[in-house]
Amino acid sequence: MCGIIGYIGEENAVYFLLKGLKNLEYRGYDSAGIAVLSDVIKWKKVAGRVEELCSRVNPREMSGRIGIAHTRWATHGAVTERNAHPHFDCTFSIAVVHNGIIENHRHLKEILREKGHKFSSDTDSEVIAHLIEDALLLNRDFVSACMHAFSSLEGSFAAIVMKEGEHKIVGVRKDSPLVIGVSARGIFLASDIPSFLEWTNRVIYLHNYDMVVVDADPAPDACGDVRNVRDMCDVRDVNNHCGASHCGALSALTEKHASIRIYNLNEGLVQRPVDSVEVDIEQAKKGEFRHFMLKEITEQADTIKKAIQQDEETVKNVIDAIKNAFGIFFIGCGSSYHACLAGSYLFSRIAKTHVNAVLASEFENYEHFLTDKTLVFAVSQSGETADVLDAVRVARDRGSRVISIVNMMGCSLTRESDECLLMNAGPEICVLSTKTYTSQVTLMAMLAYALAGNYDDFVSEVKRLYLDIYNLTSRTMRERLCEVAKMLADKEHIYLIGRGLQYATALEAALKIKEVSYIHAEAFAGGELKHGPLALIDKGTPCIVFVSKDNASKIISNAEEVRARGGYIIGISSVNYDFDCWIKVPDSDMLNPVVQIIPVQILAYQLALLRGLDPDKPRNLAKSVTVT
Ligand code: AGP
Ligand code: GLU
Repeated sequence: MCGIIGYIGEENAVYFLLKGLKNLEYRGYDSAGIAVLSDVIKWKKVAGRVEELCSRVNPREMSGRIGIAHTRWATHGAVTERNAHPHFDCTFSIAVVHNGIIENHRHLKEILREKGHKFSSDTDSEVIAHLIEDALLLNRDFVSACMHAFSSLEGSFAAIVMKEGEHKIVGVRKDSPLVIGVSARGIFLASDIPSFLEWTNRVIYLHNYDMVVVDADPAPDACGDVRNVRDMCDVRDVNNHCGASHCGALSALTEKHASIRIYNLNEGLVQRPVDSVEVDIEQAKKGEFRHFMLKEITEQADTIKKAIQQDEETVKNVIDAIKNAFGIFFIGCGSSYHACLAGSYLFSRIAKTHVNAVLASEFENYEHFLTDKTLVFAVSQSGETADVLDAVRVARDRGSRVISIVNMMGCSLTRESDECLLMNAGPEICVLSTKTYTSQVTLMAMLAYALAGNYDDFVSEVKRLYLDIYNLTSRTMRERLCEVAKMLADKEHIYLIGRGLQYATALEAALKIKEVSYIHAEAFAGGELKHGPLALIDKGTPCIVFVSKDNASKIISNAEEVRARGGYIIGISSVNYDFDCWIKVPDSDMLNPVVQIIPVQILAYQLALLRGLDPDKPRNLAKSVTVT
């Protein structure tokens, strides 16, 4: 995801836009840009962070009452200045900033190119500006041209648009967030509240398919009533300003006569109330959550879907590379390695394909037989992990092909890979990998299904999972797991077992618990217990067991071996096999590694809180381990 912001008011927009962007940088920061409208549009973009943009912008040369700005988290198009937002139409008189993924951008570009449109970036977002330009050629006014263009888009989008000669900004949202900030110094449209919180806490939340028009030259309000924003800011619901039932449009007037009108693309004029938020900026970035860890855990219903929003051409290239390879490796560290291990099981079971999952730090020990036919998948959320980069260099020195699976375009790993797949999980601020782990597993399952020729079945399976995952991260589930955490919070050791896909899950679950609660948590393959680890079991030793239908009888036998020696069995499964404590999850077959890890992510979070620890910043750790 990325951060977008628009401003319209009586002061120079540059000041508000740049300050607002800094408060949105937690949403993405690989490149940034700003555009300001006076009689013409002036703009500046950098392939760098907001502070670099600030150093390159001269407010005296770029002033105007209306403007838009963007801090990017690239999904389509490399991290370059030309791909930074804002993007423009052919005449550079329409500017747009966008958050999300336009899934039908290729199709729309083909149509527009046939009409003579020339594109100046590799992004999906640029198509929005050209669609508006094209709609204007049909004698539409700017607002209806925007409406027409937005209605052509598929995928997720929050966008803000402005045009020379129009003293207004137009915003729209579908699946990506966009809120309105109403202040006496002007009106804001933005991805999130922190961007304008220092100027106002008065917020209007937009619904899906809402389009908002903020006009600096307003026609008299529909009901003829003209109010200033100061009065309006004291009113809970702006529609009370006239009380007339016919006033369908929300018309909140700023002090300097700018108006706000909200249309829903499906319903026409709509009313949206003004709310007030009482949070500090840091807290606002976490939304309703105390910590980023829990916020990111709850995002997984959405991020799982975004993981499979991949460029068709890129996926085809990857599948071809797999088919032509002799020797395939999945390499990673920590959670990313666990995803690699799960991926190796998935490729075996779904695509009957042999993949070696190897710790990146151990990979050099295999260099002796690497060839130019070898294919290496380098999996890394940050794309900056030194062990992974070292392993990739070993592979490339042997002429092997490298495909990276990362969460941020433009990271070091993408620059050292032949091909790159993006997890599209959005920034993960917590040191612990949660949503990016499940995105990695989902992406690997997608590749396995695509390789096996069952891609469409998989996509519908992921969409079916949405509600299951949403429920697993619900408040009810979190309260249930808090009770389990209270039982475990004072334990010195917690053991976890699983077989096959569930063994990978057990390893990931153990890592979650140990790195955030500092409890010694250790995972074993179920079949290994009797070869030594069983000696660790004492009366009351807790053991978490991951069960799937395909290997239930064996892992349950292993669990009984533990219970026979006094162990306390916590079962994570779709069926209760007479566990001492049962955490019910839906049976998700090949996607069990995605579903079954979520309760333990939440359990680990609760353990950290019970032990008075900061889940977002565990001791001794870092989000990106850039040393070997
Ligand atoms: C997992 O919760 C940890 N943050 C850590 O093990 C992490 O997975 C590992 O350092 C790899 O990071 P990467 O995915 O950014 O390469
Ligand atoms: N898809 C757009 C791009 O790649 C926006 C990305 C985002 O929302 O971060 O530029």
